[in-house]
Amino acid sequence: MTEELEKYVLSHSAPEGDYLYRLYRATNIHTIHGRMASGHLQGRLLKMFVEMIRPKNILEVGTFSGYSAICMAEGLAEIAKSTGQQGKRTDGAKESGDNNVIGKIWTFEINDEMEDFTRPWLEGSPVAEHIEFRIGDANVEAPKLGVEFDMAFVDGDKRTYVETYEMVLKLMRPGGFILADNTLWD
Ligand SMILES: C[S@@+](CC[C@H](N)C(=O)[O-])C[C@H]1O[C@@H](n2cnc3c(N)ncnc32)[C@H](O)[C@@H]1O
Repeated sequence: MTEELEKYVLSHSAPEGDYLYRLYRATNIHTIHGRMASGHLQGRLLKMFVEMIRPKNILEVGTFSGYSAICMAEGLAEIAKSTGQQGKRTDGAKESGDNNVIGKIWTFEINDEMEDFTRPWLEGSPVAEHIEFRIGDANVEAPKLGVEFDMAFVDGDKRTYVETYEMVLKLMRPGGFILADNTLWD
């Protein structure tokens, strides 16, 4: 995309908001591969997908600094607000009864060196109640959750994408949606 086109697209998209702006900036200042963070445009797209799909449970493979997780959690928060369900579900896993329907995103990061940076941003975000942050290999840990997912965002190691895809597929509800980043990269 040309710089001019990107400027046009961004100026006609919803703003990312102050918190995400600061997170993106901090990510690029304090981490080595800051460009891995989703950023304004992709972040708004992810939030929009969540609002379209209206998932109860989302799986993310590859948290990095937490930018995309917060964007998807914003979508869950909008849904909760519109249906009056804020704050009803506290633990996560298997609860899916009518009184316990607040949406959750389980996001996995394999690189434990990211935890000190990422956890405070996730826990301090206005949508923290929708986020379960886990350090570990999603390919190993996600199946242990016992959660059926309505949506997944695969954004981990490209060399193990097929393995991750096979893992995710088994955890999806029939008719669920899998988004995979960078599928045409290189
Ligand atoms: C492109 S970054 C994620 C960016 C983030 N989703 C965003 O859009 O802001 C990829 C991250 O996935 C992590 N990762 C790679 N393989 C993983 C796996 N199997 N389980 C969990 N995290 C993984 C990497 O350590 C890296 O931090």
